[in-house]
Amino acid sequence: MRISFEGKAVFVTGAASGLGKSTALLFAEHGADLSLLDVNEDGLAEVRSEIEAMGRRCMTQAVDVSAKANCDAAIAATVERYGRLDALCNVAGIVGLCSAGDVSEAYWNRTLAVNLSGPFYLCQAAIPHLLQTRGNIVNVASSGGLKAQAYLVPYSTSKAGLIHMTRCMAMEFMHQPIRINAVAPGAMDTDMGRHTELPEGIDMSLVQRFCNMRAPSQPDDVARLILYVASDLSPSLHGACLSVDTGISIG
Ligand SMILES: NC(=O)c1ccc[n+]([C@@H]2O[C@H](COP(=O)([O-])OP(=O)(O)OC[C@H]3O[C@@H](n4cnc5c(N)ncnc54)[C@H](O)[C@@H]3O)[C@@H](O)[C@H]2O)c1
Repeated sequence: MRISFEGKAVFVTGAASGLGKSTALLFAEHGADLSLLDVNEDGLAEVRSEIEAMGRRCMTQAVDVSAKANCDAAIAATVERYGRLDALCNVAGIVGLCSAGDVSEAYWNRTLAVNLSGPFYLCQAAIPHLLQTRGNIVNVASSGGLKAQAYLVPYSTSKAGLIHMTRCMAMEFMHQPIRINAVAPGAMDTDMGRHTELPEGIDMSLVQRFCNMRAPSQPDDVARLILYVASDLSPSLHGACLSVDTGISIG
């Protein structure tokens, strides 16, 4: 069976790099018009050029996902341009390792704002339009949202919240024509995966518990799961959180 997003509009956050970029390019390869959001304007411009070179339409919005007004405006602008919205992929996220006692109020609030509040605001804004197209939402969580991780308390808590937000939204819209799911990657070979620094003096035996035993995933590999979840090939997926983590979450 072939996946096609011809004639459909897909919204992707975090699209300037890593998994969001791979996701945006993969949807474009499968025929979608794209609406991309990220704080990285230059990165967005590069991805837009690649998508337009494939003959697909692409619009970009260089804004912070953590502000509700930005999310409302970004979804409204997308529907104004394409006349429809078929899928929302919440991929943008931030991470940092820090001992729990050293987490500042600002860092705690920022992590929850970007990783949890932003996706929720976008869901709120997108759902009325997704109901019209029988569309769907894919939230990118993390193995850290399923498994306890030392030194990542704000991040893992935000991702656990995102998984439960996905389930609660899926329950609330059980009787309406929309699917709402999450995917949970483990470590990926992206800027985030490569550049996350370990604080000094931490217990490495606790860190090793959440490190991949296999090689990190390539973002294209995870993007293929997002494409599948968002596609017509997965009509029974609703309220799911699918692990794509080379086995991290099993032990
Ligand atoms: N890399 C990993 O090892 C890993 C593991 C599990 C889950 N994840 C999740 O996968 C998703 C993608 O991560 P990635 O590895 O591609 O990282 P990345 O850093 O390459 O990409 C994240 C993107 O989000 C954007 N972004 C950050 N804050 C933003 C904000 N406030 N508003 C809008 N855009 C913002 C960044 O500019 C960047 O382009 C994230 O949600 C992350 O938590 C990553």
